Parts: sequence; C-alpha cells; structure tokens
Amino acid sequence: MLITLDGPAGVGKTTLAKKLAEKLQIAYLDSGAMFRGLAYYLGQDKLNLSEEGLKPILNNFQFQLVLEGKDYFLYLNQKKLGEEIRTEEVGFLASSLGKLKVVRDFLKAEQQRLAENTSLVAEGRDMGTVVFPQADYKFFLDADCEERAKRRYKQLKMLGKEADLTLILEQIKQRDEQDRNRPIAPLKPAADAIIIDTTRLSLEEVFLKILSYIK
Ligand code: DC
Repeated sequence: MLITLDGPAGVGKTTLAKKLAEKLQIAYLDSGAMFRGLAYYLGQDKLNLSEEGLKPILNNFQFQLVLEGKDYFLYLNQKKLGEEIRTEEVGFLASSLGKLKVVRDFLKAEQQRLAENTSLVAEGRDMGTVVFPQADYKFFLDADCEERAKRRYKQLKMLGKEADLTLILEQIKQRDEQDRNRPIAPLKPAADAIIIDTTRLSLEEVFLKILSYIK
C-alpha cells in the first residue's frame, strides 16, 4: 500500500503522516527531511555550483530508512537526521535546493528506492504528482497561510522555543512562493488527489477524514 500526503509548509503533514503510518502499521517517509538533510550537509555555498558540478557530490550521499522500536527514522550516510535539520534556515535552503533538477532527480531515485518492497505513507510536495504517481491514495492538505503560521507558532511555543508570529508568516509565504512556482515538480495537487482544506479542522478531524477514504 502506498499513500501520499502533499501540501505546503506548516499544514500538519508530518504529524498526520506519522499518525497514519502508525495506525496502518506501515513505514513513514518524510521526503522534506531528505531535502533538509542534503541542505544541512551541503550548506549554502554548494548552491552556487552548476548542476553538473553538484552531480558527483550528490552521488556520495545515500539515505536509509531504519525501523527502531515502532518508528521509522531517516539516516543520511549512516547518520540519523534529527533536530538539527528542523530550523527555518535549513527549510529555506532545502526549498532552494528543491528548484534544481539534479537534486530532484537524485532524491526521486532515492525515494523510490526506499519505497521498494515496502508499504508506506510518503509526505512532501510532489509525492503524488511525480515520485509515486501510482499511489493507492493521494491526499493534498491545504490551509490559509495565517492559520499555518499560527499552528507553527503554537508548536514552537509548546516546545518552549522563541517564536515570532509575523516572522513565521513571512517565512511561510516565502517558502510557499518558492515551492509553488518552481518549474520542476511544483507544489500542487495530483489530478486524482483528494484535497482537504484543513483551515477550520482540528488535527483529529483531518485524521478521521483521511481514514474515512482508506479501505
Ligand atoms: O516538508 P518540509 O517543510 O520539511 O520541506 C522542506 C523543503 O523541502 C520544502 O519547503 C521544499 C522542499 N521539498 C520539496 O521540494 N519536495 C518534497 N517532496 C519535500 C520537500
């Protein structure tokens, strides 16, 4: 079974995809974490390289999806990806890397390799449109950017972190703009995706809605 969950930053994909994978007892693939992992290890200066220059560097990277207890974790070259990739700076760099064809081709092949012989829930921007067009169920989650900014703000506050709502809203808008308007694999629903506007729904309501479609 293959389920894709796509949507913009801060819409709740990660929480929902994890919850869904746990409920269905299948693997969970966070494709955003793969873009973030590359961004974290490559750094800002590699963005100045030509795509030809980047290609051999990318070939030194390999991802692993590892089951530990009942959860799946992503490793990049044997190193577990953790909180270090979760900053907005890494997120924006990931989004910038995501504009490059050479990066998208490399990660698409990695994502498809990780999904070989495994049922999974894959979340990201182009899971249903480009990477897993054959998925059994495709969902596209959306919400107003103000609502997504508020959710991210609350999440950070709950973790006891500093947060500035105006700045978060600005960052979300910037990343949306970049993800929706890139020529290759832009953020958009697949023609056969089930679109859910989550602006006025709780996480539990969205989860139940998703489950109601899955036989
Ligand atoms: O889902 P996320 O916020 O962790 O993703 C970080 C960035 O990575 C996102 O802004 C764009 C890029 N990305 C992508 O281009 N395609 C994906 N399938 C997943 C993420």
